[in-house]
Order: sequence, then C-alpha cells, then structure tokens
Amino acid sequence: MKVVRGISELRLDGEVGLVPTMGALHAGHISLFDAARAENDVVVASLFVNPAQFGEQSDLARYPRDEARDLELAEQAGVDVLFAPTIEEMYPTGFATWVDAEETGAEGGARPGHFRGVATVCLKLFNIVHPTRAYFGQKDAQQTIVVRRLVRDLNLGVDVRVLATVRDEDGLALSSRNALLTPAERERALGLPRALTKAAASADPVAAARAELNGLDPDYVELLDLDGATLLAAAVRVGSIRLIDNVLVKGALA
Ligand code: PAJ
Repeated sequence: MKVVRGISELRLDGEVGLVPTMGALHAGHISLFDAARAENDVVVASLFVNPAQFGEQSDLARYPRDEARDLELAEQAGVDVLFAPTIEEMYPTGFATWVDAEETGAEGGARPGHFRGVATVCLKLFNIVHPTRAYFGQKDAQQTIVVRRLVRDLNLGVDVRVLATVRDEDGLALSSRNALLTPAERERALGLPRALTKAAASADPVAAARAELNGLDPDYVELLDLDGATLLAAAVRVGSIRLIDNVLVKGALA
C-alpha cells in the first residue's frame, strides 16, 4: 500500500474506487474497502479528519485518531493507495470556496454548516482522485443523500455506491464515536437501534420510534427518502456523545 500526502503524487490508471474516511477505522469502513476492492482496478481510501464539518471544536479535538493502526487495517483490506493529506494540503491559506449544500433533512438542521463541510471535502476528494465509484455507508443516511445530490447537481459523473450499516453483535451501529462511550452509556445507546428496528414495521414509524426511545433524548426522528428507499432515521444524545442510526422501512438500497 502506498501512502500519499501530496495531491500531486496521485496518479492512477484504470477504474478507481474511492472510500472517503476520517480514520479510526472499524468493520463498517472495511466493508466499504471490500466493496471497492471487488468492483475496481485501484482502491483509494482517504484519511482526513475534516475540520470544516465539525461544529464544536471540542468534538474535533476529541475525535479518535490512530494513524498507525489505520494504515495497518487499510493495507490488510487491500487498499492500494491511502491518501492522508495534512490540513494545509486540503485547506491552504486563502481557501475561500465552499459548496453551499442546501440542508433539507433534520440532521442538517441539527448541525448547521456540517453538510457544507462534507460536500466541500467530497468535491475536493473527487477532483483529486477522479474516482469511477465512491463508497458511502447507509449509517450516515443524510450524508449519502447530500453526496448523491452533489454529484447530480454538479455533474460529477461519479457512481455513488451506498452500503448497508455494519453493526456490533448487540445491534449498535459501528461508529468511531462508540469508543467514547462508557459501558453504562453503551448499554443505554442500544435503545436507539432497538427502537428503530421495532418501529420500522409500525403504521406510524416516527411516532412509534419516539415512544420506544423513552429515556433517550432524541434530537429528531424522521423518515428519509434515499433514491426511492424509505429510511427511519434518528439522532440521540447519550451523555456527551451524539449517535445517529437508521433502518430501512420500505424499498432497498440502490
Ligand atoms: P467516517 O465517519 O469516517 O465514515 C466514512 C464512511 O464510512 C462513511 O461513508 C460512513 O457512512 C461509513 N460508515 C461509518 N460507519 C459505518 C457502519 N457502521 N457501517 C457501514 N458504513 C459505515 O463519514 C465520514 O467519515 C465523513 O463525513 C467523510 C465522508 C469522510 C467526509 O469527511
């Protein structure tokens, strides 16, 4: 595996699969690497904790980082090139052009500026790597909606592939932020996937999920449309950690 820090060092031939990540890799990320490996000649993963998508600086500061471990996991998963730029490489002095991604879903409403940061960094990564396909997780459902719309609205010609959420045995969706939960908080956090799974089959999934979430403090519960599939999505706070999750209510991932 080649580790690249400079944009000019990236020269790739053939069909390229890109997996954007912020590191602290887990089995959810690996599932995206595996899918990219199966469908492309070259697999590029990016590892960049994008400051532009963090609202609170404290959230950015405590975001888990372990580059040595990430390098090992990416290499084991068959990633050919790991693009791990510095902040200066991505946002040099004088950087002033942003993608104004209009925020439609509740996740955007709850995190002002977040999807502007996500859309901007994804556009930059697409322009740097020129992928044939880019891989995203259903877990961040609103993000996949924003990225697909970015590609459509700006004619980027990238095939955005969305893969199912990978969960721990107890049902909690894998997330880099799970490492920040105490054992007691983790137990409470399980209420989120349980409520969503139970509510998905109900006639009014949003009301049912709200009722099932009792004790957990939901930022929102909403239905999302992801290219024809309906998802039941929610964000909750457990202690100081904010967790999101969603389940399929109708249709299938395209
Ligand atoms: P990050 O949180 O590192 O996630 C990278 C990718 O892994 C995203 O597409 C995310 O949806 C996916 N992912 C996370 N948890 C998953 C799980 N349990 N199962 C399946 N896929 C999962 O999302 C970001 O980084 C950033 O916003 C990024 C797109 C890299 C832009 O900075």
